[in-house]
Amino acid sequence: MKRFSTIVATLLALVLSVSALSARELNLIPEPSYVDLEAEGDYVVTEKTRITVVDEMWHPAQLFAEEMMEYFGSEKPLRTVKRGDKGIKVRTDIFVPKEGYEMTVTEDSILIIGGSEVGVYYGLQTLRQLIITNDGRVPCGFIADEPNFEYRGAHLDVSRHFFSVEDVKRYIDILAAHKLNRLHWHLTDDQGWRIEIKAYPELTEKGSMRKETLIGHGLEPKWWDGKPYGGYYTQDEIREVVAYAADRYITIIPEIEMPGHSQAALHALPWLGCEEQEVGVWTMWGVTPEVLCAGKQTTYDFLETVLSEVVELFPSELIHIGGDECPKDRWKECEHCQAMIKAQGLANEEELQGYLVARIEQFLISKGKRMIGWDEILDGGVTETATVMSWRGINGGIYAAERGNDVVMTPMNLCYFNFYQTKSREGEGLQIGGYIPFDMVYNWDPYQKMSDEAKAHIIGVQCNMWSEYLKDMETVEVMLLPRLAAMSEVQWATDRRNNDTIRRKMEVMRKFYEACGWHYAPYYFEGRD
Ligand code: ACM
Ligand code: ZN
Repeated sequence: MKRFSTIVATLLALVLSVSALSARELNLIPEPSYVDLEAEGDYVVTEKTRITVVDEMWHPAQLFAEEMMEYFGSEKPLRTVKRGDKGIKVRTDIFVPKEGYEMTVTEDSILIIGGSEVGVYYGLQTLRQLIITNDGRVPCGFIADEPNFEYRGAHLDVSRHFFSVEDVKRYIDILAAHKLNRLHWHLTDDQGWRIEIKAYPELTEKGSMRKETLIGHGLEPKWWDGKPYGGYYTQDEIREVVAYAADRYITIIPEIEMPGHSQAALHALPWLGCEEQEVGVWTMWGVTPEVLCAGKQTTYDFLETVLSEVVELFPSELIHIGGDECPKDRWKECEHCQAMIKAQGLANEEELQGYLVARIEQFLISKGKRMIGWDEILDGGVTETATVMSWRGINGGIYAAERGNDVVMTPMNLCYFNFYQTKSREGEGLQIGGYIPFDMVYNWDPYQKMSDEAKAHIIGVQCNMWSEYLKDMETVEVMLLPRLAAMSEVQWATDRRNNDTIRRKMEVMRKFYEACGWHYAPYYFEGRD
């Protein structure tokens, strides 16, 4: 009996110490750089907690206070005050990395010191996760944190399916909570032109509407829904979304596709094509042979006029010009394209694309911007100053980085979040194909096969959301979450990932998603991948 009670006591002690230990784990996503939880006790945040804030930090503090309203179920945000010893205190210090923060939690206060306003914001996002997932009890201790990559992006295709201003804001909210700082907004493509351009009203009047949309994969027999489909953003709406993102420290990089993926523009303005014939806004998915003519001066005038309006709307230094998947069939038959090849001393149509891209890059530089494009911009001989987005695997990115170009890694087999999340595909609805489960993203090494010189040019990592099969924001969210959590660990915490703790952390993150009212895929949590 004695022996039995000793065993019970030992087991009890073990259980208590394990539960005490698990109560002292933060379970944050993405994982912070340094955590010290030696101290005892908690600080309990309630709706009465005040935030003491100097004037310059009012914006992130206010945003946090508003974000917490739903959690507290209150009508008013947490109060921000100028002076006080207790509660949450935020300020900056030059000794903290710019996007980083330090958080010190005692039983009396929570002090967040950011390297800048954005560092304070990320500290407050960490605090938000801790409050929501621990019922307001923030464990005493110390966190020091900073991101691994400067560029932490997600992309959203609004051409194949259109998403309202409110939808895009919701998407931005989700990115911000995962500490992403770039939204790559894919605004134009064959199936719809989605941004108002004052100089060419036809682009949205005609180019934003397609006759109908393909049902299913459109293999055999081809089948369309017969319903006109469209939508676009006015310039005022674009400004509204850009400002909303900037408020959350997210830069929006607009993408205007050229010279391929431009059939919607060709429908609106047929003189942009080699043959100048009516083509219609495309109602297929994939790659169309209808592309912009690269031989006519009028095409360059058009692109420069469009970009002149775009650069005024988007403060981003990087402007995306697409450049991917441009078949050269029309150019081979076009007298203008052939004349341009000859006049410029180019070897072939690939080099003609290189010529167009280089010319557009020079135009963007003249506007104080820098060009980014998909990795096909390497094919025609890329300049040293372009930034390359590696999507056809990693080799284009490695090649460009070794040459000294800046690179964003977004290989299709790991970063296309429109791909299926489970092997069986059960319950996933119809998606484009592929297979990218959570763990595959989480365990990805974006520096794979790279020299140290090349690594220095990898500015970041991005996931992409192509919307052929994503008809509404709920579906987008289910494709985004929880994989974005894995992506944010790669982007923010590459060297701190741990397969022993990620599942437990994700159970906690799930609670956060529920509290925020975001849709997420259940498969990972069901152990189904
Ligand atoms: C792409 O997926 N065509 C960049
Ligand atoms: Zn042509």
